[in-house]
Amino acid sequence: MELPVRWQFFSPLVFFLFLAQLWVIHAEEDAVSSIQKASNDSLLWGPYRPNLYFGVRPRIPRSLMSGLLWTRVEDYQSIQSNFRYTCEQHELDGYGWDEYDVRTGGRQTIHDPANGIDITTEFVKIPGGSHGGNWGVRIRGTPREDASPNLRTTVVWAASLEVGRLEVAEVEEGTTGIVGDVVLKGHTEELGDFEMAITEGKGDHPVTGHPSYDDKPLDRTLVKSVYMQAEALWQTKAILFAHLKSEIDALLAKWTQENPPPPAQLYTIDHAPGQGNVHMIQKVFEGPFEFDVLFSSASAPKQITPADITQQIRSITTGFSGRFKEILAPKAPFLKERYEEFSKSLFSNLIGGIGYFYGDSRVDRSYDSAYEEDNEGFWEDAAEARARNQAEMEGPSELFTSIPSRPFFPRGFLWDEGFHLLPVIDWDVDLSLDIVKSWFNLMDEDGWIGREQILGAEARSKVPAEFQVQYPHYANPPTLFMVLTAFLDKLDSLHKSDNPSNTILKSDTSYSSRLINKDAALDYLRNLYPLLKRHYFWFRKTQAGDITSYDREAYSTKEAYRWRGRTPQHILTSGIDDYPRPNPPHPGELHVDLISWMGMMTRALGRIGSALGETDDVKQFARYEDAILHNIEDLHWDDKAKVYCDATIDDYEENVHVCHKGYISIFPFLVGLLPPDSPRLKAILDVLSDPEELWSEYGLRSLSKSDEFYHTAEDYWRGPIWINMNYLAVVQLLKLSQSPGPHQKRATQLYTDLRQNLVKTVYESWKETGFAWEQYNPETGKGQRTQHFTGWTSLVVKIMAMPNLEGSGSGARDEL
Ligand SMILES: *[C@@H]1O[C@H](CO)[C@@H](O)[C@H](O)[C@H]1NC(C)=O
Repeated sequence: MELPVRWQFFSPLVFFLFLAQLWVIHAEEDAVSSIQKASNDSLLWGPYRPNLYFGVRPRIPRSLMSGLLWTRVEDYQSIQSNFRYTCEQHELDGYGWDEYDVRTGGRQTIHDPANGIDITTEFVKIPGGSHGGNWGVRIRGTPREDASPNLRTTVVWAASLEVGRLEVAEVEEGTTGIVGDVVLKGHTEELGDFEMAITEGKGDHPVTGHPSYDDKPLDRTLVKSVYMQAEALWQTKAILFAHLKSEIDALLAKWTQENPPPPAQLYTIDHAPGQGNVHMIQKVFEGPFEFDVLFSSASAPKQITPADITQQIRSITTGFSGRFKEILAPKAPFLKERYEEFSKSLFSNLIGGIGYFYGDSRVDRSYDSAYEEDNEGFWEDAAEARARNQAEMEGPSELFTSIPSRPFFPRGFLWDEGFHLLPVIDWDVDLSLDIVKSWFNLMDEDGWIGREQILGAEARSKVPAEFQVQYPHYANPPTLFMVLTAFLDKLDSLHKSDNPSNTILKSDTSYSSRLINKDAALDYLRNLYPLLKRHYFWFRKTQAGDITSYDREAYSTKEAYRWRGRTPQHILTSGIDDYPRPNPPHPGELHVDLISWMGMMTRALGRIGSALGETDDVKQFARYEDAILHNIEDLHWDDKAKVYCDATIDDYEENVHVCHKGYISIFPFLVGLLPPDSPRLKAILDVLSDPEELWSEYGLRSLSKSDEFYHTAEDYWRGPIWINMNYLAVVQLLKLSQSPGPHQKRATQLYTDLRQNLVKTVYESWKETGFAWEQYNPETGKGQRTQHFTGWTSLVVKIMAMPNLEGSGSGARDEL
């Protein structure tokens, strides 16, 4: 047999060169993979329990969880209600991260007037070793100005471990408490051997003078170790209360109601350290206090010390500020320091809210025929089918994600996440890509992702039963594709031009390894690509709208879309729940927001396909996109209302538009589907800028002031200002202002005004209340609804960092 021609040239020299080249490739791959391992390791630990005021866990299921509880102990009445653990609305006077970086750590401040104390948590991570390194937190309590100088505070650090071993090291029998540091030793398969030390710390302890003091002096640390069922482990507060109660009962029996121990003494656990899967470590202080929790991995080069926390927190502060200035610094007119502080706080809370969730979830896969929503009156059948309660437990699954709000929505929301990651990807590309991947990993075989991820019993405890079930025919806006588009923009800019900001990026391997290394970037996209396509085709199939049954005229007979899961008052799946839609609902409805999202998604997929060289796919996506763009015009533009409208079928079986001016009417513009010379732009800018319609001096209203449903019923998306949609508008106005054309000048002015209005609105409310809010009132500008809404409201960080276009003419406004 003769060798093919090319093999005849195969000489030893060629072979050697070939080997050498392989070696170089491998060496490069090793370097990349070790950068990626380090990057991944630096994400292992975090305050990934954002539902707690402070709780730490690794991104590992069933692993070491810990968290902080505290209360003042000065009277008997208030203790139960003042015991802090999970974030709740309206109990504190502001709390959150002043600065935080997921890789290194940061500082959180908590203002607790009812307990008379301010608490700071300074969390640091120190890399090293093969198990994700060490971490530590310094917990400091400072009595507030109006508190008694002898304020007594009980503090509990609780640690639990579902699978593995955890015990208090070297306990002496028969002691009344531990003097010095408390050390827990443990082992799990993923973490190896480790130690968690709770230091003695600094601060005075109450001397109660009551005879019970001798049995349990409060100048030492009390430790209680118990075994609980795995399913109960998350209920730390209930476990603590149960143990406190039995101790209180015993103390009251002993000392009687006539001479009870004072609260600081009475509310103490009994000291019983040892083995257990839950360990409660309690300290009682008088006045200010401070102590550290130090986690050391046995594989790290050395143990973490209090001095490491001091040093690391200092370098985090400098590093964070420096990097923030480079990447997200507010631009004119927001140059005063207070805007920088505001921006840092919002951004820190966005990434400080990132959590790791693990657990089962409730899904109704009955595929009840009522869920097809294809007959008139379908919503009643669907409601009955839901009431039959056909949900079953699925999973467990894991999710790494940020969240809309720590007290109210401490879990993953699909469409929120795409907005959350837009500021995050500017700061930390690898982190954002990890989160995107985590979401797409939740996809089922059909391509569905549940829009609200309520994983595990702890997450479910915050959600009423009727809202826990997810349905695999329900969609949610595919906003994660905006994040992938942002990633592609960065990739193009980095690998095509000599943009000076690239030097910063390039030195930032710990945040951007998958951006800097183009092969790693393409690898990531290639791995994700099949999931993205599956998701896309799931949308096309399950959310299709009907063109042909109703004599509708359109460029394409296929591209029309309808949200499933609607009721007369709501389309929760659309994200803009109570925005007025055709009523009563009809199976022939078509939704302009959904076809616009599909346009955005199609375009994003086309770009990804093109980066991956998938030419056939790219052609197919281009055809879809073209058809979608035409059909948005043919099916949704209303010549009389001069906006885009939903469509439905009237009593005479005719296609009609249903127009309620608001975010819906400008949706194709908001998601970037209108070119700068679009004949629709004039009308879109008219409705957007009209104070009788969308425009208010605080931002764009969700529903026009002139609409009959403005501020009616729940008034959720019927007027109030939402920052996510406003952000999209600002981005599009900026694009228009940079594109020569008939609307350039007008867009520049609108961009400038809207940008300033939004920043002022969110800033003023933050200054006044200490919180970012879910939405803002278009009449007063005040924040309303959910407090501590540091999810997409944080997009104001990006809005501040956008260019200032004011002052190219005369009359530039002063610095604000
Ligand atoms: C990153 O770390 C997590 C947690 O240790 C681990 O489960 C995952 O496999 C790691 N990923 C990579 C790509 O190494």
